[in-house]
Amino acid sequence: MARTALLFGLIALRHCLASPHSYSLLHDRDDAHDVYDYIVIGGGTAGFDYTVLAIEYGIIEPDGRRNRSNMYNITSVPQVNLNNRTFPVDVGCIVGGSSAVNAQGFQRGSKRDYNNWAELSGVKNSSWNWDDLQPYFRKAIQLSNVPHPDLAKVYNMTYNAGSYGTNTSKHSIFASFSRGHLPAVIPIYEALREYPGVDVPIDHSVGVLGLAWTPRSMEPISLNRSYSRSGHYDGLNRDNYHLITATRVEKVVFNGKTADGVQISPRWPATEHEGKGKGKGKSQHKARGSSKRVIKARKEVILSAGAIHTPQILQLSGIGPASLLKKAKIHILVDLPGVGANLQDHAYEPLLQFNWTTPPPHPEVNTTIPPQSDFIYGPGLLLMLGLPTISPSRYQSLSASYLAQSPGQFFPQDIHPTIIAGYAQQQRLYAAGMLDKNFAFSATGLGGLPVAAPQLMHGLSRGSVTLNLSSPLPEPIVDYRFASNPLDLEIVAENLKFFRRFYTGGDSTLKQYVNLALGETQPGPGYDSDEKLKEWLRGNLVPSVYHPSGTAAKMPREWGGVVSEGLEVYGVRRLSVIDTSVFPTIVGAATSMTVYAAAEKAADLIKARA
Ligand SMILES: *[C@@H]1O[C@H](CO)[C@@H](O)[C@H](O)[C@H]1NC(C)=O
Ligand SMILES: *[C@@H]1O[C@H](CO)[C@@H](O)[C@H](O)[C@H]1NC(C)=O
Ligand SMILES: *[C@@H]1O[C@H](CO)[C@@H](O)[C@H](O)[C@H]1NC(C)=O
Ligand SMILES: *[C@@H]1O[C@H](CO)[C@@H](O)[C@H](O)[C@H]1NC(C)=O
Ligand SMILES: *[C@@H]1O[C@H](CO)[C@@H](O)[C@H](O)[C@H]1NC(C)=O
Ligand SMILES: *[C@@H]1O[C@H](CO)[C@@H](O)[C@H](O)[C@H]1NC(C)=O
Ligand SMILES: *[C@@H]1O[C@H](CO)[C@@H](O)[C@H](O)[C@H]1NC(C)=O
Ligand SMILES: *[C@@H]1O[C@H](CO)[C@@H](O)[C@H](O)[C@H]1NC(C)=O
Ligand SMILES: *[C@@H]1O[C@H](CO)[C@@H](O)[C@H](O)[C@H]1NC(C)=O
Ligand SMILES: *[C@@H]1O[C@H](CO)[C@@H](O)[C@H](O)[C@H]1NC(C)=O
Repeated sequence: MARTALLFGLIALRHCLASPHSYSLLHDRDDAHDVYDYIVIGGGTAGFDYTVLAIEYGIIEPDGRRNRSNMYNITSVPQVNLNNRTFPVDVGCIVGGSSAVNAQGFQRGSKRDYNNWAELSGVKNSSWNWDDLQPYFRKAIQLSNVPHPDLAKVYNMTYNAGSYGTNTSKHSIFASFSRGHLPAVIPIYEALREYPGVDVPIDHSVGVLGLAWTPRSMEPISLNRSYSRSGHYDGLNRDNYHLITATRVEKVVFNGKTADGVQISPRWPATEHEGKGKGKGKSQHKARGSSKRVIKARKEVILSAGAIHTPQILQLSGIGPASLLKKAKIHILVDLPGVGANLQDHAYEPLLQFNWTTPPPHPEVNTTIPPQSDFIYGPGLLLMLGLPTISPSRYQSLSASYLAQSPGQFFPQDIHPTIIAGYAQQQRLYAAGMLDKNFAFSATGLGGLPVAAPQLMHGLSRGSVTLNLSSPLPEPIVDYRFASNPLDLEIVAENLKFFRRFYTGGDSTLKQYVNLALGETQPGPGYDSDEKLKEWLRGNLVPSVYHPSGTAAKMPREWGGVVSEGLEVYGVRRLSVIDTSVFPTIVGAATSMTVYAAAEKAADLIKARA
């Protein structure tokens, strides 16, 4: 076993790992064996001495940030608390999944994020906590391109090397610091460092929040995207590992309550998009074969289709809320109300803008270290804040108001009691998190001025993914239900007010540069009350940062959970889930790094029961 990791690393989607040069890529669905040990739906594996088939709906294409041709085209239902606006549900549809199309933000959450997962396991000895997950982060993520020492000095770029692995094999996922820099960030850094409540940790990998530098998922030297395909599949040459692309998994099939295979069908009719020849052709690859067929799995079927499609496939397979399955006329194999519930995402807040009289001065920096042309996506400075820093005057009362809510208060009338029971647990933990400066409610990327749009990291509302009863197969119905809990908008308004104070308030060291006569240009000085700010947010906030999570949560069944501590689906045998669906609560960071670590842990769990 040269490599032992099952890997599924993706931000929320059908990702899979393939190379046009690999022998294991099947050009015809009919060439697939009738039976494998493991079938991975939307995922891949490297390193079992077992036969593995990975099935992917997307095809092999070059990676590219949010390139429409490599994305699903799903639109959310109108968000009633956001002026009925609809939003794209952007997840990657490509070999490599969302890791092939994301913005390469690469951090882990804070300690409380993962310790909450352990609390939400309902058992005392859960190993899904901060400490136990760190070795998996080090196994999954290799540090490369550490900051140039001269640059590190000028920008105070500190980092904790021990949080990462040191394997330089090219078959790895890499975290790299940008070699580019932007001197305009220096006065912002200094102003934030001095601002009340803002800590400056060594970096964002040590489980605490504040102002710190952050790497991106980039390859060493070339700074190409580092993602599941480049790190885990390209160059893989194993004849016991097969991948078929352009293939829909219609459902998991069962023998009684034991998952023993999948039913697949072609994404396109037979005559179109034929694969171009066998073997290791370099052509853009789309599998041939027209037949609907069943392929069997001897050991396990592993769902790795992301938080939008994993619950859809479970529901199509008869595992989900009985009321929904009955309406969809699907045979109920397991009544599991949590499938598709508990949807969470981060949210983009609209940007406050100010008119600057003169930009704050910054020091001259030697731009030849390193060449300016290396500048990719900005310098990688991230401000992450908890509620006590965002809102020193209201965090306690906001926490108390939240705790005082009845847990079922903002769910639909017919919600299942187990979902409310699970949410009550999350509510208790989030109310405590609101008192902790190391539980993120805000994250903002910093380049020059203005700062990037902040994100809400731990929304209190919960959405859903459900089958479309009039056409269950293509895409499910996605409802973020953003701001169904009214405290979401209160918290975002507090965050806007934080940035207002930072630019123009009494403690601001930047306000001398703001043209106070013209002042705030967006939303503007007329938005001077919480009510007006919330009105602005209803028209401008975006409820997704394309990090859907939570729709097949690892929680006890009586709390609306879908999978056990071993990530096995309740009520059936030999079916597991590995993707952001299993996160009981979203992490306060971009999700991909956590997926890679969780997948490494899952690989150990699966091997242990093989
Ligand atoms: C988007 O991806 C497609 C397919 O890989 C490619 O042909 C196209 O050039 C890409 N577009 C951009 C703008 O990168
Ligand atoms: C989404 O739409 C684009 C065209 O805008 C198309 O190229 C792409 O294949 C579509 N994605 C899916 C999953 O159908
Ligand atoms: C949103 O749509 C619902 C249902 O159509 C309607 O009752 C409501 O008034 C709409 N809200 C806004 C702000 O337009
Ligand atoms: C936790 O305890 C249970 C019951 O004693 C045991 O079955 C399980 O293996 C333990 N899990 C871990 C991760 O130690
Ligand atoms: C580094 O990674 C490669 C590829 O995954 C693996 O074969 C090798 O054993 C790893 N080396 C160490 C020291 O972990
Ligand atoms: C540099 O970063 C460290 C954290 O690694 C922080 O403690 C220190 O205050 C920072 N110093 C300056 C001058 O910004
Ligand atoms: C980086 O990506 C470019 C464009 O896809 C490719 O031509 C080049 O070979 C890659 N470099 C490395 C070192 O993988
Ligand atoms: C700031 O004010 C000046 C006039 O003093 C105007 O020309 C400029 O467009 C304003 N900038 C913004 C971002 O509103
Ligand atoms: C700028 O950095 C380069 C590379 O380290 C160095 O050779 C050069 O002397 C520096 N220039 C100045 C003015 O410090
Ligand atoms: C459900 O499917 C029907 C038929 O394809 C489609 O017209 C409708 O827009 C879908 N509903 C949603 C909410 O996506």
